[in-house]
Amino acid sequence: MYLIAPSILSADFARLGEEVLNVVDSGADWIHFDVMDNHYVPNMTVGPIVCQAIRPITQAVIDVHLMVKPVDRLIGDFAKAGANLVSFHPEASEHIDRSLSLIRENGCQAGLVFNPATPLHYMDYVMDKLDLVLLMGVNPGFGGQRFIPSTAGKLYEARERVEKHERETGHRVRVEIDGGVKVDNIAAIALAGADTFVAGSAIFEAGKDGDPHRYDSVIAAMRAELARV
Ligand code: DX5
Ligand code: ZN
Repeated sequence: MYLIAPSILSADFARLGEEVLNVVDSGADWIHFDVMDNHYVPNMTVGPIVCQAIRPITQAVIDVHLMVKPVDRLIGDFAKAGANLVSFHPEASEHIDRSLSLIRENGCQAGLVFNPATPLHYMDYVMDKLDLVLLMGVNPGFGGQRFIPSTAGKLYEARERVEKHERETGHRVRVEIDGGVKVDNIAAIALAGADTFVAGSAIFEAGKDGDPHRYDSVIAAMRAELARV
């Protein structure tokens, strides 16, 4: 039930393909793909051509997190580039319902992302169009930041909302957390309500200490923590 989604933001971009293969081989479930535009967030990363480049080398779900404004223009491009899941920040779209529909029409699963101060009510009238809600444990833009503690209460609230929706409709929505997830807080974050865990620096920096190619031990340590929940 718990999924681990390493964020390639902290990978070695000079050998990205190898990093993706190794992290999947080390037990990752999804590849989290952070897209930043130096407009919605003060940083810049990678676009559809990089997604297209890693698509043929792995079967793992590619979980695209759009930190861009405007949103819609890139949805089709990422779908064509092989994304499985596309999520965006509601503040970055003029028409949230339309952007969500566009993601589904392009054959991907859809998610909404909530910054630490973004209210959860953005999900209210679009629950049936969501496959995932992603709560940020940090302000978006950079890896390696500290988890903001108030996110735990917000995760609990998000979990209540998606479970109520599942009881009423049978439709399941995942609750993903992104930012500041480490081995020592992942169990508490799971208890608060998350079922899918993005981790960038915790995984890729641990790998850099010893054997640069393997991430087994940190992913195994995260799974061991999750097994205690
Ligand atoms: C932040 C990104 C995250 C980031 C997480 O804007 O959306 O996915 O890579 O990095 P860590 O796990 O280091 O906080
Ligand atoms: Zn992200």
